[in-house]
Parts: sequence; structure tokens; C-alpha cells
Amino acid sequence: MTVDKGYVDAPIDLSLDLKSEIKRLKEEKHAVILAHYYQKGEIQDLADYIGDSLALAQIAQKIEAPIIVLCGVNFMGETAKILCPDKKVIIPDMNAGCSLADSCPADEFEKFIKLNPGHTVVSYVNTSAAVKALTDVVVTSTNAQQIVESLPADEKIIFGPDRNLGNYINSITGRNMKLWNGACHVHEQFSVQKILELKAQYPNAKVLAHPECKDVVVRIADKVGSTAALLNYAVNSQEKEFIVATESGIIHEMQKKCPEKVFIPAPPEDSTCACNECNFMRLNTLEKLYNCLKYEQPEVVVDGEIAAKAVKPILRMLEISEKLKL
Ligand code: 13P
Ligand code: SF4
Repeated sequence: MTVDKGYVDAPIDLSLDLKSEIKRLKEEKHAVILAHYYQKGEIQDLADYIGDSLALAQIAQKIEAPIIVLCGVNFMGETAKILCPDKKVIIPDMNAGCSLADSCPADEFEKFIKLNPGHTVVSYVNTSAAVKALTDVVVTSTNAQQIVESLPADEKIIFGPDRNLGNYINSITGRNMKLWNGACHVHEQFSVQKILELKAQYPNAKVLAHPECKDVVVRIADKVGSTAALLNYAVNSQEKEFIVATESGIIHEMQKKCPEKVFIPAPPEDSTCACNECNFMRLNTLEKLYNCLKYEQPEVVVDGEIAAKAVKPILRMLEISEKLKL
């Protein structure tokens, strides 16, 4: 058995019912599976908890089980490990990175901070542990607005790495945060033209957009919010049709919660690629999840010094969120 490829590359008996084996292993090892809404539906269905980035961090913080299997991308595994240093945090495929986190290397972000002295550093959770270690307060798409608003009105702020989320927060809070120029390759791809064509076809459909989308998409959206916020909107809305401008994995839970409603994934600019799927999130498969649980590998490891610094802005975010009941 080896994890050289970033996941356990061990043969699996083809006669096994993987779903029942995953459930069995999970119970036997007292492991808890957390899955992000962008995971494949079959993985979401096996998870003990599904949620957005904020919910996954909040749940990880409270979990008592000795093993956390984080089905998402690396920064989510790192956040769980930083919050639960005594637990074993495993992830089905270590290759599950994030283009947004990668758009902000820690050494370059540090130079940006030094070029802007006297600024409070607010970082999106989609960052490496090393970037979080340079940060004053972490935010997710669920709490970014409220956390920025909790800072004094005249506070000078650096926001990284997502320029789209940063622009959106500037526009709704009236702040003038200095933005790092990063973006997510999935959310940047949504085509406003194609969304408008869909609107012509489904005139009653509401457009749901994640704030990582470009501002032209956000401006035509009926609801802008995190995956959890978009899901809640769809569940509570009287409307029956929705055009969904975020990673299409969220539609699995939307459809489960609202079987009578219609969810249409927003198309990317380049219709020859499945750009509304995050290739990193989709690296996790039932096979890799099974082997990950069986061998308890690959394990998320965060450098102790970095973790000691990174935990502070994450805890600050969780404390503010708890106070605000987010
Ligand atoms: P959420 O904060 O909605 O979970 O978003 C995470 C993410 O990776 C968006 O691309
Ligand atoms: Fe990162 Fe974008 Fe994938 Fe979210 S959808 S994990 S921001 S690459």
C-alpha cells in the first residue's frame, strides 16, 4: 500500500458493496465523515454531516470522534486539523487543491501585507494554513459581510485572495478593502450571456450565485450567498425554478430537499468543458474514500508553528460567528 500518488493506491475487491463497507469501517473506527456540498452526491449521502466551509469548521470544532474524514479540498482538511490537533484528520485524495487558494502563495501575500502597513488582514477560508498564519481574521462566504462590518468603519483592511468576493463585500458594506488579485477557476467561468439565455427560456427562474462569481453574474442574481445560503433560499422560496451559478454539486442537496423544484446548472463560457464542476472536489471517489478509511491515510499534517498562528484567526472567525448566530 502506498500514498505516493496522494491517495491510497491499494487494490479493492470488486465484489464489495463499497457503500456498506464505508459505513461499516466508519462505525468500527468511530470515524466521522464530513462532506462539502460540492462533493459527488454518493459521497454526500454517506456523510455524517454535509455543509458549507463555515459549517464544516464549526462541526469539526465540536466533534468528539477520534478520526475525521474530510471529503472536500485540502484547505478544509487543514482547517479541521488546525482546530482539532489531537484528532486524526484524513482526506480521500491529497491532490484535491483549490485554484483560489493556489492563487495566493504565502510568500507573495506576506510581501503584499508588508507593502500595506497598518492594515488588518482578512482572509477567505480558501487559503493555505501558511496564509492563515499571516491573517488577523478568517472569513467564509457565509460570514464575510458580518465580520467585515464588525471591524471599525475606518479600519484599513487587506482582503485576500478572492477579488470577486472582495469586490462584492466592498460593494455591500461600503468599505474600500485592498484586494488580492485571486479567483476561482470554476466561478470565473460562468457566462452571463448564457444565464440570460436561460432566463429567457425560464422567465420565472431565480438566479442563485455564489459571491466568487464575476460581478456581471452577481449583478443579475436574485440571491447571492454561500452554498448554504443558496440552499436555504431555494428551500424557503415560493418559486419553482432556479438557475444555479455555483459548483453543480450543491444541486444534489437542493434537489433532495426540494424534489418538486427545478434546478438548472448555470453554463460556463466554454461549453465544451464541465467548468461548473470543481475538478479538485471531484477527485474524491467512493473507492478513495473506502481506502482512506481502511488504511487511515492520507493524513492531513500541518506544521506546528504555522498551526499555532493559523488557529487564532480561525477561532476569531468562529467566535464572531457564534456571537452573531451564523
Ligand atoms: P462555501 O463557503 O459556500 O462553502 O464555498 C466554498 C467554496 O469553495 C466555494 O467555491
Ligand atoms: Fe476552490 Fe473554486 Fe473548487 Fe471552491 S470551487 S474548492 S474555490 S477551486
